[in-house]
Amino acid sequence: MEQTFIMIKPDGVHRNLISEIIGRFKCSGFHLKGLKVLNAERSIAEKHYEDLAGKRYFPALVGDITSGPVVVVAMVWEGDNVIVNCRKIIGASDPSKWEPGTVRADYAIEIGRNVIHGSDSIESARKEIALWFPEGLFGWKCNLY
Ligand code: CDP
Ligand code: MG
Repeated sequence: MEQTFIMIKPDGVHRNLISEIIGRFKCSGFHLKGLKVLNAERSIAEKHYEDLAGKRYFPALVGDITSGPVVVVAMVWEGDNVIVNCRKIIGASDPSKWEPGTVRADYAIEIGRNVIHGSDSIESARKEIALWFPEGLFGWKCNLY
């Protein structure tokens, strides 16, 4: 089964949106495989967003993720097509395309204050899970389905 990495960004944490955002992922068929609160180290934030290193907004983005003393909530969800389905729950990157009912439409303020990250492909999910959960994930398997 596919896995994805979801992170509530510091702006979501500061605005007390943790429970509201986690609740958006309670879809049947998604299984929680990892959940923790942590301080985002600069080296990890830079590695996480390394594909965007040339962008004008990169320093601000890494600064936001590490602006301390902040925490991010990092989650791993597993399920069929979980990457694409979680991106639908999250909503578009571009504010002009924020669909009603998505997390970003409901809570984001602007493109750089969009409260949540979700992996965009199998490769990035693998990289991000290894980066943020070097200790590994829960070993459990849901037996209800
Ligand atoms: O987060 P998502 O995958 O939807 O978008 P991205 O294109 O991978 O960009 C990563 C993050 O960079 C966004 O979530 C924004 O926080 C930030 N960003 C920004 O501040 N300004 C932009 N013009 C584009 C992205
Ligand atoms: Mg992205």
